[in-house]
Amino acid sequence: MQRMIRVFDTTLRDGEQMPGVSLNIGDKLRIAYNLERLGVDFIEAGFPASSKNDRRAVEKISENVSESAVAALARCDINDIAVAADAISKAKKGLLHIFIATSDLHLRYKLGLSREQLLEKVAASLDYAKTVYGDIQFSAEDASRSDPEFLIKVLKLAVEHGATRINIPDTVGYSTPAEFGALIKRIDDSFCGSVPISVHCHNDLGLAVSNTLSAIQNGASQFDCTVNGIGERAGNASLEEVVMALATRFDVFGCKTSVDTKLLSRISNIVSSVTGVYVPPNKPIVGSNAFAHESGIHQHGVLNERSTYEIIDPRSVGIKSSKIVLGKLSGHHAFEEKLAELDIKQSPEIVESAFKAFKDLSSRKNTVDDDDIRALVEEAIIDSHIHDGFELVSYQIQCGDTISSMGMINVVRGGQCFTEAGIGAGPIDACFNALNRIAGKEFKLINYGIKAVTGGTDALGEVSVRIEDGENEFVGKGVDTDIIKSSIKAYINAINRAMFTENIYGG
Ligand code: KIV
Ligand code: ZN
Repeated sequence: MQRMIRVFDTTLRDGEQMPGVSLNIGDKLRIAYNLERLGVDFIEAGFPASSKNDRRAVEKISENVSESAVAALARCDINDIAVAADAISKAKKGLLHIFIATSDLHLRYKLGLSREQLLEKVAASLDYAKTVYGDIQFSAEDASRSDPEFLIKVLKLAVEHGATRINIPDTVGYSTPAEFGALIKRIDDSFCGSVPISVHCHNDLGLAVSNTLSAIQNGASQFDCTVNGIGERAGNASLEEVVMALATRFDVFGCKTSVDTKLLSRISNIVSSVTGVYVPPNKPIVGSNAFAHESGIHQHGVLNERSTYEIIDPRSVGIKSSKIVLGKLSGHHAFEEKLAELDIKQSPEIVESAFKAFKDLSSRKNTVDDDDIRALVEEAIIDSHIHDGFELVSYQIQCGDTISSMGMINVVRGGQCFTEAGIGAGPIDACFNALNRIAGKEFKLINYGIKAVTGGTDALGEVSVRIEDGENEFVGKGVDTDIIKSSIKAYINAINRAMFTENIYGG
């Protein structure tokens, strides 16, 4: 018998709780559209009572997504529930997600409640929730470290008072597959299939995916996950790993999901680029080495018969082996063929701007590979959202180990030129200080990352920065063979995003 398992994606909520990740509304909408296209059943869009920005993001996603249900998180608190229900009121399909911790540890040290008081709070909150929303999921935070008897009592009470589905989190990633599976079986037996059971596994011991799969084998019909496994601390169960384990070992699990697996590589790239969190090369399914074969014996085997060393056809997760190699002589036609090969579909304006960037790059770099192209298109997409932003014209630096660094930057905006100089601890710091002077704001750099997009001394350096402006954070990206220039471009990109957000949302 085949079972359908529902996919509850929480990249935009638990994923965004990852240290260093903060998404603005445009970023969130972009990820939400792509999750909808991917075919997930639920998109947890945020925690509306936690901030004005989160509330706006949940509202916007609710208005724009129609295939997936949009979930909003709330504590067992009347105000939280009212705000969350209101934020998803325009969703075609929505889910109110209410949680409270049930372990004695959390009751004592976090909530300061007795078990009796907790039961009263759950009943009162759900009684209120069902007057404002139809579909309600109840989560028992730290369920795996709760007394199972008490946990089941709370879950039953939640269902009696209006919860339509229940979620069992392994909040601190403490459980093991056999233990978690047994817990889910016990809960499933006590509900006799009357309510869908979901699980939410964290990865502190690297067991999130195994625990999720064990739960599915023991009665769970829904699982929480994030793209690339991002999330609090060590992250959540990775969407692509659970989905591909179910698909590849259908013989063992007998379960299907509605996810279009050919879009997995694409969504992984998008989430990585928008959050600034790079995917490790050895990450299953979506890492750059997941289908790479270095040893001669393996290469030989794969060339004769792919399944000798590959259990998944890379094309089934959207990775195509490249046929077209681009270089400085390649024209528009070859560039468009390459985009089609990489399954990149964008507006003519974005293609044109990526093509211009490609011509510029290919004059400085012998071969431009697939990752270069993806990075250039990503940059064109980000820039297309920004109107009237700053554009780099030129820069100069002076630095050495016996003098302070100085950076002079020349930019244009709306036909007007701006030039400023800055001093800093190093050339990049000096340039960022000059850019702050141009923007007239003291943006604070809170994160800086650099990676070589490709190999070789002429590799493209992709810089990702995160800057802070009051309570908001903005990510910026820049790509160039010159890493100082990539850094300046990334900082300008982040400033433009900050100004763009200020313009449309008034700060
Ligand atoms: O980890 C957790 O327990 C959670 C709940 C809010 C579902 O994220
Ligand atoms: Zn969580």
